[in-house]
Amino acid sequence: MKNTVLTLQKQKEEGNKITMLTAYDYTTARLVNDAGIEMILVGDSLGMTMLGYEDTLPVTMDDMVHHTRAVTKGAPDSFVVADMPFMSYQTSVYDAVVNAGRLIKEGGAQAVKLEGGAAVCEQIRAIVDASIPVCAHLGMTPQSVNAFGGFKVQGKKEASAEKLLEDALKVQEAGAFAVVLECVPAKLAQVITRELRIPTIGIGAGAGCDGQVLVYMDMLDMYGGHQAKFVKHFAKIGEEMKNAFRDYAKEVKEGTFPAPEHTYKIDDDVIQALEEKIAQEKQ
Ligand code: KIV
Repeated sequence: MKNTVLTLQKQKEEGNKITMLTAYDYTTARLVNDAGIEMILVGDSLGMTMLGYEDTLPVTMDDMVHHTRAVTKGAPDSFVVADMPFMSYQTSVYDAVVNAGRLIKEGGAQAVKLEGGAAVCEQIRAIVDASIPVCAHLGMTPQSVNAFGGFKVQGKKEASAEKLLEDALKVQEAGAFAVVLECVPAKLAQVITRELRIPTIGIGAGAGCDGQVLVYMDMLDMYGGHQAKFVKHFAKIGEEMKNAFRDYAKEVKEGTFPAPEHTYKIDDDVIQALEEKIAQEKQ
């Protein structure tokens, strides 16, 4: 059954934790969907995990549409949220609505996510008015990495903690259906979660949030880049993949792969006739 903004809201009200993982392609989306994960985020983290960039800033709308289209095909049940990349919504309310529309119309997503609080409330309101659900994203918002001076925990001091709560209330007021809290002290995230009607989805924000999200390549230990403190490795798939690639190379070099059971048969008569023809042509 398809998860919706209504089922997610009900989960918050019933205290049933929301699960969310990133996916960037059809095959992974199918696995995540079939595991019963309620939300899939086509994160602009694909800039690092799929495209090899240092941060999310170079990711384009075309990149996001391309990956979102693949994910939605593999996610009949999960609620798919597509990230709005850097400069696709900051520039104007008009740009925000047009670009959010592309992720829904061309990508097939059910909702979009954008980073920021009070500064982007006009954009959130306009996108929601266009009947597109918006997930907000507060705390350590990666598109502001240069403004923050690095990837740092947010809201540790009284003024910044107050501002974070204020921003969370503002994005809720603007119509966001959920808010991602990234790299926020657990006790602050718990207060924000209590004060909001809409669900909070935490990443590095403790267990007091209404749900959790992780980058799937981080939780499977596939991505060799910097690992944040909040990442738990639920499996070591990166090592498993490398071992399988090595085994494959070894068997190809030894000539033990492909084995007879991996090959297609042909009648000996056909080969015999072909060999005779070749021999005749060479005379
Ligand atoms: O892009 C992404 O994957 C994200 C998560 C880290 C929340 O925004």
